[in-house]
Amino acid sequence: MTIDQKYIDQFINVTSKAALASYHFVGKKDKIAADKAAVDSMRNELNNLKIKGNIVIGEGELDEAPMLYIGEKVGTGNGPEIDIAVDPLEGTNFAANNLPGALSVIAISEKSNLFHAPETYMEKISAKVSEKGVVDLDFSTKENIFNLSEYLNKKPESITACVMDRPRHKKIITELNDLGVNIKLITDGDVSGALLVTDNKYGVDIFLGIGGGPEGVLAAAALDSYNCSFQGRFLFNNEKNKKRAYKMGITNLTKKYELNEIVKGDSIFCATGITSGDLVSGIKVKNNQFISETLVTHKSSGKKKIIRNVINR
Ligand code: FBP
Repeated sequence: MTIDQKYIDQFINVTSKAALASYHFVGKKDKIAADKAAVDSMRNELNNLKIKGNIVIGEGELDEAPMLYIGEKVGTGNGPEIDIAVDPLEGTNFAANNLPGALSVIAISEKSNLFHAPETYMEKISAKVSEKGVVDLDFSTKENIFNLSEYLNKKPESITACVMDRPRHKKIITELNDLGVNIKLITDGDVSGALLVTDNKYGVDIFLGIGGGPEGVLAAAALDSYNCSFQGRFLFNNEKNKKRAYKMGITNLTKKYELNEIVKGDSIFCATGITSGDLVSGIKVKNNQFISETLVTHKSSGKKKIIRNVINR
């Protein structure tokens, strides 16, 4: 089974409208308002679609998120059953402070094919590698860089690694420095960070470090359409999160997940720019019209494209 191409335009419209809603709050120093605008818009638009949608990754559990919570049913109820992962505003700091890289993101798969990720951290690695055993979460930083260096036929000094600028990554950053690897530090937005390995134009060979689990699943959904690798391992730092994970059916809390365990079958991924960043441009205003740029992938058709659209209001 595949997801019909007709849904591509419909989901581009969903993330474009959410991006526009959030765009009105860019630079207003209010990340909650910027997020809420994107969430409200995304939920409204999803509810207009002829689908039986199930939110598997959203704004949190029902007790903490009244909209787009995990388990919420969206769509008219007439249409295919699909799993939906959303991050209506990825990079709340970026939007609030008018910094590059704020995105509105969605990923969909057929029913039961997208990992139900808890709201917890995830150790992640993605790389410009299609074979198994080259980079791995279980390898040391040195092993990963040496293997990648051999695989890409590049010296470690010519490799660029993307890492989030966080105190928890001090060790990884020191190790990369010692190996002479070029480091691209990002302050937020690791959906985009993980996707920078997908095209030479971004100049990134490997992404590694700890970020949000839901963001990991979203990135994996896009990476599945490229010849790239991804692995993720959830990190549970308190009992509440562990209990939630068990409730979601995760029995092995230290399991390393491969890309094909996170997303199966066909999928569509859309990321629309709110502010311009590495992947896509932000919302632009031209002749009284709002223009969006969306990175789209569709696994079964092999589509991987940046689409520019006038947003219908
Ligand atoms: P928000 O959009 O929710 O602010 O998340 C931004 C983000 O940078 C994600 O891309 C990343 O996965 C996560 O935060 C990292 O969390 P932390 O800031 O706690 O390190």
